[in-house]
Amino acid sequence: MGGYSTIDTATGREAPAHVSEERVKAVFTEIAEQYEQFNHASSFGQDRRWLERLVGLANITGTSRVLDVAGGTGEVTFAICRLRHPAHIMLTDYTPAMLEVAERRIQAGENRSVPVDTMVVDAQDMPFDDDSFDVVTMAYGIRNIPDRPRALREIARVLKPGGTVAILEFSTPPLLPCRLFYRAYLKWGIPAWGEHFTGKRDDFVYLSQSIQAFPRQQEFAQMMASCGFQDVKYENLSFGAVAIHTATAC
Ligand SMILES: C[S@@+](CC[C@H](N)C(=O)[O-])C[C@H]1O[C@@H](n2cnc3c(N)ncnc32)[C@H](O)[C@@H]1O
Repeated sequence: MGGYSTIDTATGREAPAHVSEERVKAVFTEIAEQYEQFNHASSFGQDRRWLERLVGLANITGTSRVLDVAGGTGEVTFAICRLRHPAHIMLTDYTPAMLEVAERRIQAGENRSVPVDTMVVDAQDMPFDDDSFDVVTMAYGIRNIPDRPRALREIARVLKPGGTVAILEFSTPPLLPCRLFYRAYLKWGIPAWGEHFTGKRDDFVYLSQSIQAFPRQQEFAQMMASCGFQDVKYENLSFGAVAIHTATAC
């Protein structure tokens, strides 16, 4: 089990799972329609570059069956369609309102004829058979999950042995000046962008808190290694403001 317990994802402290689960569904239901605009503006356009690197590290080929966990409005899924054209993508998320945006994007042809199915799924308890997928991707999802080891074990279970997981998440810049700047941006910048696009400042205060409460790169790598993965590596992007962890399922 790795000694972890259910946490409040805003603080990292132990709490019943429903505290985080109810909040995350409420937050992403409220901001689903403006989510992509917010992401693009608040990252100063870097989100596209981060996604492309995630896709590049995920070992996706034309025959891959891919699971996108906490896939939201489909940002990762459609980047994969654009850059790799795999055999199939299962796009899953906990919040139906986020998937509704993704479904409109499929109808608009953003899947570029790649077969994409959507399903409401809790990453901590997935309805897929063991060894179902070649690749699992997750961007900005694991931070919102109260039992992260359980979600990671689920990912390891549904991946084929030797399959790749690639997880993009906000992280902690190792250099002190970058870290101080980033903390200030999280405290004032992110809620301000959020208020500008959605009028829901509190939802973005939560996002900032959850980023600051998320484990550092090395600690998260250790969590992955204790949950059924080998060859765990990470790569910092934008001075470590985000990191991509990759690993293979045992
Ligand atoms: C910041 S969004 C990221 C969406 C997308 N991956 C992207 O790159 O834009 C986080 C997503 O995680 C989802 N999520 C939170 N908890 C989850 C859980 N337990 N299982 C599956 N998805 C979850 C939320 O509903 C939300 O859509």
